[in-house]
Formats: sequence, structure tokens, C-alpha cells
Amino acid sequence: MIFVNKPSFSGNEKKYLLDCIKTGWISSEGKYVKRFEKKFAKFVNRKFSTTVTNGSVALEIAIRALNLKKGSEVILPTFTIISCCNAVINAGLKPVLVDCYLNTYNMNVSQVEDKINKNTSAILMTHIYGITVDVDKILYLAKKYKLKVIEDAAEVHGQKYKKKNCGSFGDISTFSFYVNKHITTGEGGMILTNNQNVYKYILKLKNLYFGKGLNRFRHQGIGWNQRFTNIQAAIGLAQLENIKKTVKKKHAIGEYYTKKLSFLSEKIQLPLTSIDYCQNIYWVYGILVKDNQRLAAKKVIKMLKKEGIECRPFFSPMHEQPIYLKMQMFKNKYFPISEKISKKGFYIPSGIGITRKEQDIVIKKITKVFEN
Ligand SMILES: Cc1ncc(COP(=O)(O)O)c(C=O)c1O
Repeated sequence: MIFVNKPSFSGNEKKYLLDCIKTGWISSEGKYVKRFEKKFAKFVNRKFSTTVTNGSVALEIAIRALNLKKGSEVILPTFTIISCCNAVINAGLKPVLVDCYLNTYNMNVSQVEDKINKNTSAILMTHIYGITVDVDKILYLAKKYKLKVIEDAAEVHGQKYKKKNCGSFGDISTFSFYVNKHITTGEGGMILTNNQNVYKYILKLKNLYFGKGLNRFRHQGIGWNQRFTNIQAAIGLAQLENIKKTVKKKHAIGEYYTKKLSFLSEKIQLPLTSIDYCQNIYWVYGILVKDNQRLAAKKVIKMLKKEGIECRPFFSPMHEQPIYLKMQMFKNKYFPISEKISKKGFYIPSGIGITRKEQDIVIKKITKVFEN
């Protein structure tokens, strides 16, 4: 089986991990946590950064940390991972959705302004699959209507929007270090901001709101234990040291697929290589089955699985999530592009550890599916 993701550990991962074990520093205390946080902040050009247990928690804490007015509205794309919408709901806020574009899968920024009203407090923008949101349009609206911006940069480590680093936009940004990300720590996440007060609040929220010094066990608020370990940070630091190489390899993986699969372009839509504001970084290599094909993505995924190729379907839009329907949310809301791509889209093995030989096998099997 060629798996949808295979990570790669070709730098100092082993060395740093052994150091943790030898020195006994394996909890959230330890030099690698601080080093990783500091280096990551510099990498994305933010003043403050702190690690957490995963990218979903990063979103939960980030939204809480902005202290948005209870019951106020947060605009976000329907085509995203459920972590985004859950974080809004769990913070006592109301999610308001917009559709996405057919070519980039990112939120349709032209639909945002219509959704803004006096109850809107923030916009959550998620960069999808390796191309970014058209960030300037969001920042312009946020400024015009005095809204906060949360940037979910989970999928875009090392990506740039108009030469500026992803993770540096808006009031607060979040990353995931799950195993399929450009930088992985197995599980893990990061929250970044330039606002010192927000940063201090995040530190309390992620660490049980412990008091200072001898007042450690006197808690002034309700928080969680969402601390990241020195072991995770040891891997993360080594991965971060290699990020330029990783991004280059990801470009090469994506461009090779495009070169070899373009002849099927009447039947499948391949991801954009670039758009005027960014180059694709191929977090995953997503393919859309065109309307002239009878096949739904689920069927293609099953066919490829039989051939030894593991693929995944695209996200299912928020307004169609069974749990939200049960909660009577997003009633009578339709977002045709997201609905379409969730049924027609799938992504193929494109992890950093994939070899050319494996890519050739994937290409051969996709060709077999679509040439018949
Ligand atoms: C855009 C986006 N945001 C958030 C997350 C959640 O991250 P995690 O899996 O680390 O909880 C993911 C996960 O892949 C994601 O793709």
C-alpha cells in the first residue's frame, strides 16, 4: 500500500530525542520547547509564540484568548476542517459561513462583506491544501469594520502570501504539527501573536491557569492542560531546521504529479501550480473529478485502494455536517462550490517521504482509473 502520507526524518531528530532521554527532560519543561517556540516565531515573523497539544486546541485557545463578545458572529469558510467551527461554537460564538472558490478551494472573500453586521466580531481564515486565502481582502475588511482576524495556518508551514509569511497575518495565528504537515511533531500545535497581553492570557489558558511562585496552586481562572512536551519539540526543532528543503521537496512532488497527470485534464482538475499572490506549496495534492465523469470521489478512492493506493476525500463542508444539522445549525444554507468539491475531490499520496518510484505507481494507477 502506498499511504496517503509518509513523514520524513532526515535531520537532527534522533540526536535531539536522544538528548531528551539522556538528560531526563521529557515533559513540557526543557530547552527544546523554548528553542522551538522561539525559532518558529522568527520563522513566521511573529513576536510571541507558544506550543500546544494540537492544531485544534490551538484554534480553541486562540479564539478564547481574543475575548470576543459572547454570542457574537465569526465568519469562516464552510470548506474547512471541523476544528475551526467547533472552536467558534465552543467559545460561545456563532459561526457564519461563506463558500469557497472552485480553483483554490479557499474561502470566497467576495462573500464576506455581505455577512458582516453589527454582531460580527471576527473572521477566521483557513488556508486550504497549500494555496492561501486572498489575505489582503480579509485584512482590508477587518480594518474597515474593526474585526479581529484569526489565521489558521495549519496547512501552510513555509508558505508565503505576496512574499509575507503565512502565520503572520491578523491578530492571532495557529498551526498544526500533525504527522501529515510540512513540520511534524506527531501531534502538536502552535499559537502566535504580536500582542503581549493576548500571549500572557494564552499561557494561562493552556496551563490550568496556574498562579505564580508559591501561589502556583491558586487558580484565578479556568484553563486546560494543553502543554507540549520536550520530546515533541525536539522533533519539531529538527524539522524546522529542514523546512526549506521540505518546501522544495513538496514543490517537486506536486510539480511532478502535475507534469505527469496533465494529459488527463479533460477528466480531472489538478491543483493550481500558482495564483497571482502565491505558489502552491502542496500540503496535499488534491484532485477534482470533472463533471463529465460519472465517478464520485468516493468511488475513485475505493478503486485506488484496490490498486494499493491510499487516498482521502476532501473536507465535508460545515453546513452539511451531521452533528450541526442535528443541532439545527446552518438551516437552509447552501454553498454550491463546497458541496460540489466535497463530493468530487480527493487527495493522493503526497507526504514528504514519498519516492519518485512511488509517485510513478500512483500516476499509473490514476491513469488506469480515468482512462477506462
Ligand atoms: C486547516 C486545519 N486546521 C486545523 C487542523 C487541526 O489540527 P490537528 O489535527 O493538529 O488538531 C487541521 C488538521 O489537519 C487543518 O487542516
